[in-house]
Amino acid sequence: MPIARPQQIALGHPRVHLRSTTSTNDRARELAIAGAPHGTLVTAAEQTAGRGRMGRSWTAPPASSLLMSLVLRDAPVPLSLLAAVAVCDVAGPEARVKWPNDIVVEDGPALRKLAGILTEGRPQEGWAVLGIGLNAAVRLQDLPPELQRTAATLGLPLAAIEPTLANLLEALERRLADPVQMTLDSWRELDALHGREVSWMDGSGHEQGQGQGIDDSGRLIVTTATGARATLDAGEVQLSQGR
Ligand code: BTN
Repeated sequence: MPIARPQQIALGHPRVHLRSTTSTNDRARELAIAGAPHGTLVTAAEQTAGRGRMGRSWTAPPASSLLMSLVLRDAPVPLSLLAAVAVCDVAGPEARVKWPNDIVVEDGPALRKLAGILTEGRPQEGWAVLGIGLNAAVRLQDLPPELQRTAATLGLPLAAIEPTLANLLEALERRLADPVQMTLDSWRELDALHGREVSWMDGSGHEQGQGQGIDDSGRLIVTTATGARATLDAGEVQLSQGR
């Protein structure tokens, strides 16, 4: 009789866990450049210089959140969209994606941020680093006052951080195997900005419109008050409001 083997999860091996580091993305980049294999994972209990998109910082009280960076070889192009969907898979039915890849929960009309995703890499060298910060066991009162007003937490016990990491690696593994179109469809079902007022800055100043989903390249589609349709590129435009 054939022996059933447990499914091999490639992501998360090898793993480096650090008590404290500047940024897990820094460490994972170094490992990627040094030739670390696909699936190499860096986690930390604390980051002293956690980074976010668009030059923002990422703050989490020590030992209370999931801070991870994965080295991926030949990652699919909508990596950050795919990662956002995978984080929602583990964060529960309330989790939504605020374009392009903030994981949020609704709090009345406001959106509170539960997790952030920072992808970095050198496609020409065939590697990417996928960094995820998830407020798994964060107590909101331990965050700086300005974040207490805008952050969310899963409110899990500390002992649940490791099992949540295992669930997230599994979800990423599953989603990495999905066709691109399925990733886009899943993302669209989780879209927190669909039908919401959004505002952004571009070359001509402050603009406002209504979120209408994403196109197949991951750009946000918006309609303005005049009915004009525009698409916003995540690398160029920062939403100043989307709530
Ligand atoms: C964002 O919201 O703009 C992205 C935040 C990404 C934070 C994570 S925490 C683990 C990894 N290391 C970092 O320095 N950043 C990412």
